[in-house]
Amino acid sequence: MKKHIFFVTIIVEITQHIQCLSETRGIEVVDLTSPTTWKDMSKYYGAVENHWKVCVNCGAPQLGTAFHMEHFGSQLGSMQPAVVPTEYLLSRLLIVDLTTLTEINPAVVLTLDVALQWSALKHDPVEPTLLFFRFGWKEEDNRKINTKTCSCKVPGLSFELAEWIAANLSRVIGVATDTPTFESEQTREFSSRTVARVLGRSGIYMIENVHYRKKMPEQGCMAITMPLKLLNAGYAPTRLTAFCPTTRTDLSVVLGLMKIVPQEAAPNSRLYDVNLDEILN
Ligand SMILES: *[C@@H]1O[C@H](CO)[C@@H](O)[C@H](O)[C@H]1NC(C)=O
Repeated sequence: MKKHIFFVTIIVEITQHIQCLSETRGIEVVDLTSPTTWKDMSKYYGAVENHWKVCVNCGAPQLGTAFHMEHFGSQLGSMQPAVVPTEYLLSRLLIVDLTTLTEINPAVVLTLDVALQWSALKHDPVEPTLLFFRFGWKEEDNRKINTKTCSCKVPGLSFELAEWIAANLSRVIGVATDTPTFESEQTREFSSRTVARVLGRSGIYMIENVHYRKKMPEQGCMAITMPLKLLNAGYAPTRLTAFCPTTRTDLSVVLGLMKIVPQEAAPNSRLYDVNLDEILN
């Protein structure tokens, strides 16, 4: 009989000291996922399987929050969501709020010069980090995408910024966006000079169609990413969950595992027994 139970405990880090809270008060769990429907998913995978031409330049808004490393129409290569090690899926979450730029230009290309004004993009973070680019994209903006003609007006990253992230931000393990694609006007029409290629080749994963529901602190949240372990698929729906401090903005949430001795013995009553025969019949 095991003496110990593993518990997931949420710890709040205050400056240098780690204070363990025995409850999760002060930490908010935010689901950043847009749903994927079975119908859209089967349509998409069916098209890929049949080698039909799929427009990949503008992303796939109808597929919901999804995860990929290569240009998402490709099935080739080994950089598939299923091979990403689990420890890369738990990270710090830094939010880069670009809504002031998209208010002026809804299809803005985020250049390296402008991006370096955000400290999250200028300095290599100290821990494994997911960078979330918040362009302020809304569900109704998906109408700006015509997948038949492959034309769209979507804000995105410049090629130089993608190169900078890949080369100089060594602890950035993933990037996320509320838009359907990271490709911008500058990279969308290319096959090799794309954001996906530069980031994917450096082992940085991309999450698109993130649903930003409510105001969250730009620093201090943690993210858990759980892409479907679909084999032989370069693009997989994913769940993205953030754990954010609710009270003070200088608090950071960390997740830790603790070994504890249970205080109370499990109730010794027949009430808690499950009768499998009853359930199955
Ligand atoms: C990485 O940073 C160095 C030093 O700031 C810079 O010279 C170099 O161009 C950067 N690399 C890329 C690919 O942007």
